[in-house]
Amino acid sequence: MKTIDSLGDLRGKRVLVRSDFNVPLAQGDGAPVITDDGRIRAALPTLRRLADAGARVVVTAHLGRPKGEPRPEFSLAPVAARLGELLGADVALADDVTGPSAQKVVGDLADGQVALLENVRFDARETSKDDAEREALAGELAALADAFVSDGFGVVHRKQASVYDVARILPAAAGELVLKEVESLSRATGDPERPYAVVLGGSKVSDKLGVIANLLTKADRLLIGGGMVFTFLAAKGLEVGTSLLEKDQIDTVKGYLATAEENGVEIVLPSDVVVADSFDAPSPAGVVPADAIPADKIGLDIGPASGELFAAKLADTRTIAWNGPMGVFERADYAAGTRTVAQGIVDATANGAFSIVGGGDSAAAVRVLGFDEAGFSHISTGGGASLELLEGKELPGLTVLA
Ligand code: 3PG
Repeated sequence: MKTIDSLGDLRGKRVLVRSDFNVPLAQGDGAPVITDDGRIRAALPTLRRLADAGARVVVTAHLGRPKGEPRPEFSLAPVAARLGELLGADVALADDVTGPSAQKVVGDLADGQVALLENVRFDARETSKDDAEREALAGELAALADAFVSDGFGVVHRKQASVYDVARILPAAAGELVLKEVESLSRATGDPERPYAVVLGGSKVSDKLGVIANLLTKADRLLIGGGMVFTFLAAKGLEVGTSLLEKDQIDTVKGYLATAEENGVEIVLPSDVVVADSFDAPSPAGVVPADAIPADKIGLDIGPASGELFAAKLADTRTIAWNGPMGVFERADYAAGTRTVAQGIVDATANGAFSIVGGGDSAAAVRVLGFDEAGFSHISTGGGASLELLEGKELPGLTVLA
């Protein structure tokens, strides 16, 4: 992949940077508040490096899915403010994507200054399936700059105008974040040091089919928790009560269990489950064995014995990838499974394992549960992008930088 060095002397040059500023926002009565600025912080090394080199830095990014039209609740205004605080310098925000305001903001930039264009998804061409439409927007973005740096790792799996097409027009390079992410994730996707364990959670197995299928030929152990585990338990013929169950995936999961056995991949399922009367019940009804979930109960976390079992299965590993929480960690009563597994990963990392946390929810869990991020080898800013890399797919936003 081409790096920023390949772009030569950047002093006085306009450099378009694609960042991923798709951050969670709390919409209250006043201005929206960013509840986790991790993606903005992760963008700083590239932006600082370009500004220090004297470039005029023009950042393009998306927030949410505004469906191709300007919607104030998806404005990047809160991001511009936070970015300015973190950089210690004002960040001007254009009020359009490539129009008169964008052109003026870029024209006003001095060497070493950073400006932000408004949410690129306010323009329907950004996500268009029509190549010509995307290329037209990419052409307008390219006209604002002399070079392009792709640093929005969270979107490199999207074949979109500001990620893919613009990189085919301007001299293009990968930014610091994209390089760091790809280097870290390739330690799992390439030739991982073994034992290699993958912890998968989150609500739906259908979101992770590709990744599971690929891991059945790569990983030594697959530890499954979260809502998706109930489809695995059902595939083993167990009763799962009113827990989340994707009936249409049971046969696929049966196939996975068979393939795992053939390939010598150990699939570790919880031995106990924290159950409640309903999702909205104020407190858990108790802990039950995974093979005895009552018909009227819902499972909302892996149980304490399972947490210990999972931690033990991680203790001797050399490579760990974790994607998806073990339970409804946002609620204190159902956070213990995720906490125990996260601690198991931290302990294994301290013993020399290389650990990757991928997926917005697991990264959020690490922060919400108060873990020191330094306890993990790499916390990815990518959700879908890191999953697709683990799936072994080629990502358009990376291949275009080759
Ligand atoms: C993400 O949040 O995973 C990225 O920003 C990509 O967003 P998208 O799924 O809306 O393309």
